[in-house]
Amino acid sequence: MKGKHLLSISDISDEDIASFMAGAVELKTRGRSSSLNGKILALLFEKPSLRTRVSYEVGMRQLGGEVVYLSPAEVGLGERESTADVARVLGRYVDAISARTFAHKTVEELACYAGVPVINALSDLEHPCQALADLLTVYEKKGGLKGVTLAFIGDGNNVAHSLLLATALAGMHFRIASPAGHAVQEDIMRTAQEYADATGASILCTREPSEAVRGADVVYTDVWTSMGQEEESEERRRAFTGYQVNAGLLGLASKDAIFMHDLPAHRGEEVTDDVMDGPQSVVFDQAENRMHAQKALLVKLLGAT
Ligand code: CP
Ligand code: NVA
Repeated sequence: MKGKHLLSISDISDEDIASFMAGAVELKTRGRSSSLNGKILALLFEKPSLRTRVSYEVGMRQLGGEVVYLSPAEVGLGERESTADVARVLGRYVDAISARTFAHKTVEELACYAGVPVINALSDLEHPCQALADLLTVYEKKGGLKGVTLAFIGDGNNVAHSLLLATALAGMHFRIASPAGHAVQEDIMRTAQEYADATGASILCTREPSEAVRGADVVYTDVWTSMGQEEESEERRRAFTGYQVNAGLLGLASKDAIFMHDLPAHRGEEVTDDVMDGPQSVVFDQAENRMHAQKALLVKLLGAT
């Protein structure tokens, strides 16, 4: 890790990736341990969650630690009390904070004032915990990361940003097909390109889903309407017409390609039932890997301190 927080997937270096994968695989095999005995993690969430909340709660308990969950209604982050003061108080009670926020600057502010490690459990800009689990899933299913081609179809959103950076760090080939106005942010693209230049990764941006998917080893999609964008959902459904991952599109990928989705899926929009439930789908293994990858992260951030 470059520092004591995971706010962006850029907080890990390309050299960290191999040890992350090895650590996660080892913890997945071992199950329970006492490496975080007595440690307490706060989960501070402004948005709903199934996977992130449960995988952090169960993962922390499996490592001997405990969790305090604070729901969106409880804290009133930035409303009942300033984000800085919430951070200062929480940092006196717990050993780390995993926060799911609307604005990315909220997780940055928490990190600035908490005095303990802060993990971005999804912001509008990035979802680094998801990207760690995604790399672990590709690593297991494809026997490694370097040189693997991943095609992302759809919105250049938080999940796409972290995955773009993560694949560039891992030396993978990332292709993304998005409609006009929904491409990944330029600053993220520039950073990813710098990583790619150093690791031998490559990046392709296109408007054409078929160009991205042709011959790919992994086909990945996420929702067209993310949490907080519900008012745009009609407009987004129109903008993303033609960007659905269905059997026809998946058929253009390599014949042993896997299908991935961070979930929750809006079935019938970005992906069809036959792809989600088909033989190439690894979405539930991927969801399980949230816990194993995050346990490796927690041990790195909190272990032996
Ligand atoms: N993939 C993911 O972060 O799921 P949740 O929103 O359910 O946590
Ligand atoms: N892009 C989605 C991911 C959910 C895990 C969102 O932000 O809602």
